[in-house]
Amino acid sequence: MRLQITICLLLLGCLVFVTCNPIDKNEIPLTEKEWWQTAVFYQIYPRSFKDSDGDGSGDLKGIQSQLSHIKDLGVTAAWLSPIYTSPQVDGGYDIANFTDVDPLYGTLEDFDNLIAEAKKLGLKIVLDFVPNHSSDKHEWFKKSVKRIDPYTNYYVWADAKIVNGTRQPPNNWNSYFKFSAWEWNEERGQYYLHLFAIQQPDLNYRDPNLVKEMKDVLRFWMNRGVAGFRVDIISALGEDEALPDEPLSGNCSPDDYCYLNHIYTEDQPLNYDMVVQWRDVLKEHAAATDKVPRVIMTESYSEIDKTIKYFGNETHDGACFPFNFYIIMGISQSSNAQDLKNVVDNYFNKVPKGRTPNWVLGNHDQHRVADRVGVKRIDGLNMLTMTLPGVAVTYNGEEFGQEDGFVTWEETQDPQAINAGEENYLGATRDPERTPLQWDDSKNAGFSTAEKTWLPVSQKYKETNLKKQKAEKESHYKVYKDLVKLRQADALINGDFSSHVEGSNVLLILRKLNNSKLFLTAINFGDIHEEVDLSKIDKILAENLKIEVSSVGAAQTQGSIVSNGKLHLHPYESYVLSKN
Ligand code: GLC
Ligand code: MG
Repeated sequence: MRLQITICLLLLGCLVFVTCNPIDKNEIPLTEKEWWQTAVFYQIYPRSFKDSDGDGSGDLKGIQSQLSHIKDLGVTAAWLSPIYTSPQVDGGYDIANFTDVDPLYGTLEDFDNLIAEAKKLGLKIVLDFVPNHSSDKHEWFKKSVKRIDPYTNYYVWADAKIVNGTRQPPNNWNSYFKFSAWEWNEERGQYYLHLFAIQQPDLNYRDPNLVKEMKDVLRFWMNRGVAGFRVDIISALGEDEALPDEPLSGNCSPDDYCYLNHIYTEDQPLNYDMVVQWRDVLKEHAAATDKVPRVIMTESYSEIDKTIKYFGNETHDGACFPFNFYIIMGISQSSNAQDLKNVVDNYFNKVPKGRTPNWVLGNHDQHRVADRVGVKRIDGLNMLTMTLPGVAVTYNGEEFGQEDGFVTWEETQDPQAINAGEENYLGATRDPERTPLQWDDSKNAGFSTAEKTWLPVSQKYKETNLKKQKAEKESHYKVYKDLVKLRQADALINGDFSSHVEGSNVLLILRKLNNSKLFLTAINFGDIHEEVDLSKIDKILAENLKIEVSSVGAAQTQGSIVSNGKLHLHPYESYVLSKN
């Protein structure tokens, strides 16, 4: 009898154990995650990061001198916007030599030193790979103009269309930076395609020599120790070979990019195929060296179904993801918690099974979070992206909430702004988010000793700078750092995720994993006081919760306890809470 009872109890115990602890097939054991899948990538815009030689432009030695800051943040890797030989027409995205460093930034030796130093600190370096175009000063282009093989077809050349006896571009395609995407070349007697500036001729991926040459560029930098690549504007890589006119969108004026529906110049089959090929190059390199996966992160602002395809299909595994720009594209000053939830859920539901989601809050092409979404929402948004599953991407300066700088028409550098003209440049310019990093309150915000910096240092630097935020008891910087640290928790790496809107404007993100501490992120996205009953979402939240991270100025500080599931949130107040 006693034995029977014991067996019964044991069975019941097992049953209870099984039902209370369902094994979620989506949970991946910690050991199976690769380095990049839980990484924080920190984007450095080299020209504005730190100037070591006093010429007013940031450089590689400047970056090296601040590696300790990056290490302190706790991030995994730094990805550098282009450092290559360039006339700097488009902030270095116009490259005249893909395998050398521009003197503005230093030398290849400086780069090797940077890699070596980063390695010592346990930091990875990722480079920007710009495959869509080169500079018109590139040797390949000069030779292509002269039809010198093998360069003759390295670029997209096309004959003129003759209309009523006059020369016209081959079709109606427009440049991202306004006006026709075609430029006449007298010497060759043909037009060349430039989806960006006139000085950025598009490369032709239908030429096998060019394809091979660009793969060698990847190999060159991997041999120098980089951990992967951010792939610039992958959506623009290939075009329909027949060069058909694009249909009108019904928006914008005829010279603008948005005047057309880009069905023949964006997200063509060739693009997806090239990503798979590059991934293979990276895999080969890892297999032949240290077996550590090298990562590819692609850039495109396309609709989600097209973007998601850059993950590749089931047969294409590997460390690769398309940037998730849907928070950037979907969330503004006027958004509410429901908008935020929709953006997060829509993206999350689209990520193919087994693939790693990622969350990007800013980059050198977008106004800073402080200006785009609001200073008061900085901490809440960092909490969101740092506690969602997968990769987080931060643009330099966002770790302490740097705001946009102001750049006059005379000081303007961005070709997109220049093409928009003096009247309209403020609507097009990307210079404000590229002004120098604000390190401290000394001359030029500690960025440079030069009399004049390449873009003006923002007047706001005395108020917003890293040194000040390091010294303050509470700061965006401290919140950011705490969040990066928290990401190591099991439930934030492997837990499941659910999102909820409560009250009128509160977004809650719950991350749970069996037998692990759970995490709840609570973001008041609005300007009214809210009281939410957390137990409505999950009964367990009625138990004592501990505050792990609080937004700057929040009523409750780190370590305080929230009980009975009653959470009060002042306007814009945000917290990450935990329960053991
Ligand atoms: C990408 C870059 C942007 C650049 C463009 C052309 O969108 O992020 O800065 O202007 O590509 O290379
Ligand atoms: Mg310099």
